[in-house]
Amino acid sequence: MGPSAMIRIAIVIASVRPQRRGPVVAQWVLNRALERGDAEYELLDLADHPLPMLDEPIQAVKQKYAHEHTRAWSKVIAAYDGFVFVTPEYNHAPPASLKNAIDYLFHEWNDKAVTFVGYGAVGATRAIEQLRLIAIAVDMVPSKAQVAISAFSEFDGDDFTPAERTEAMLTHALSRLVARAHALRWLRLGGCTGDALEPSLIRASTIPVKRLQ
Ligand SMILES: Cc1cc2nc3c(=O)[nH]c(=O)nc-3n(C[C@H](O)[C@H](O)[C@H](O)COP(=O)(O)O)c2cc1C
Repeated sequence: MGPSAMIRIAIVIASVRPQRRGPVVAQWVLNRALERGDAEYELLDLADHPLPMLDEPIQAVKQKYAHEHTRAWSKVIAAYDGFVFVTPEYNHAPPASLKNAIDYLFHEWNDKAVTFVGYGAVGATRAIEQLRLIAIAVDMVPSKAQVAISAFSEFDGDDFTPAERTEAMLTHALSRLVARAHALRWLRLGGCTGDALEPSLIRASTIPVKRLQ
């Protein structure tokens, strides 16, 4: 992947329960994202990557994975430069499925951009505040920007019609995400320390970075 290669953004569907609303919201995000043409965007549905409740004996920071499902999840996340977490709010918090998927890894999330699309009574704003703190704990760079979708005025049953303001919030959130994803890719390549590595040789997740624990 050379320096001109497009960045890769995963639009993560955080809820996994039957009859969830996550996919319809994520599909809208993907449609708008693809119209931009400024990055490679893909849906990443946690339901397609079923992980048991964290069962790794060693904390992810050591990157000594005992299970094949963890190694597979590691490869999936390592391949992206940034993320849109499409999330509901369960009891004022992010769904356990997303927290669990985050907890499985550490280095694969480091120095990557993340923004948030929430839906619920108050646009999942309380869940997203928590997600920002969780993102920092795995050394991601969370955005101030977010999209807050009202379960009352923008949903009619399962039909989702985003308001004009919601569309504007998404445009802004994606613009910030893509800009930061570029900057952070450069950082991961070593560009910010003056000893940039040859970009074509590097995958983001393979850069050895000494970190304070
Ligand atoms: C366990 C549970 C807890 C919930 N708690 C909240 C909440 O705290 N705030 C809120 O706005 N909606 C809450 N809801 C309603 C959800 O916003 C609504 O069910 C939404 O569709 C969930 O997203 P999903 O369909 O993708 O699972 C809750 C739903 C569930 C299942």
